[in-house]
Amino acid sequence: METPHSPAAETATSTVTARLTLHSPEETQELGRTLAKLLRPGDLVMLTGELGAGKTTLTRGLGEGLGVRGAVTSPTFVIARVHPSLVGGPALVHVDAYRLGGGLDEMEDLDLDVSLPESVVVVEWGEGKVEDLSEDRLHVVIHRVVGSTDDERRTVTLTGYGARWAGVDLGLG
Ligand SMILES: Nc1ncnc2c1ncn2[C@@H]1O[C@H](COP(=O)(O)OP(=O)(O)OP(=O)(O)O)[C@@H](O)[C@H]1O
Ligand SMILES: [Mg+2]
Repeated sequence: METPHSPAAETATSTVTARLTLHSPEETQELGRTLAKLLRPGDLVMLTGELGAGKTTLTRGLGEGLGVRGAVTSPTFVIARVHPSLVGGPALVHVDAYRLGGGLDEMEDLDLDVSLPESVVVVEWGEGKVEDLSEDRLHVVIHRVVGSTDDERRTVTLTGYGARWAGVDLGLG
């Protein structure tokens, strides 16, 4: 008997994408708070965007939404910073992959006081380093709408990869 044609079966990786425009740092932070509601222990969020795009600003919102301890700031002088949950949820591990040579497996050697599968891991500058480690990830790409650093508009593209994100409603219209 002939197997019915199934487009879903042809792609090993499912993706779900949403695009939106943010008009201010406050809106970017608000997006972080909204996305935090979707996040579960073990999730990986990869943030891409040029210097000053708003990756850390978004992470600040994620931290607020997750209810974690400590101000989310740029992790530039550490490879990773752990923010424990104040509400019995997953910790936020905020990683600056720019300083992480070998990818996320190198993080196992950092002796973080937390289990990665039980945390939400957010990686800035992770492109080319973390994809291989987790098929499942939420990739957030932030771009300035115009080149000027005075302009606060940003476009954001959210793409969920892998079974974890298949069919997840990002709920962002
Ligand atoms: N819509 C916006 N979203 C986020 N940040 C904005 C926006 N408009 C202006 N900004 C400003 O841009 C800067 C973004 O800084 P942030 O540290 O979040 O960027 P980043 O992408 O983490 O940079 P880096 O690559 O240095 O880590 C902040 O000063 C913020 O006030
Ligand atoms: Mg940053």
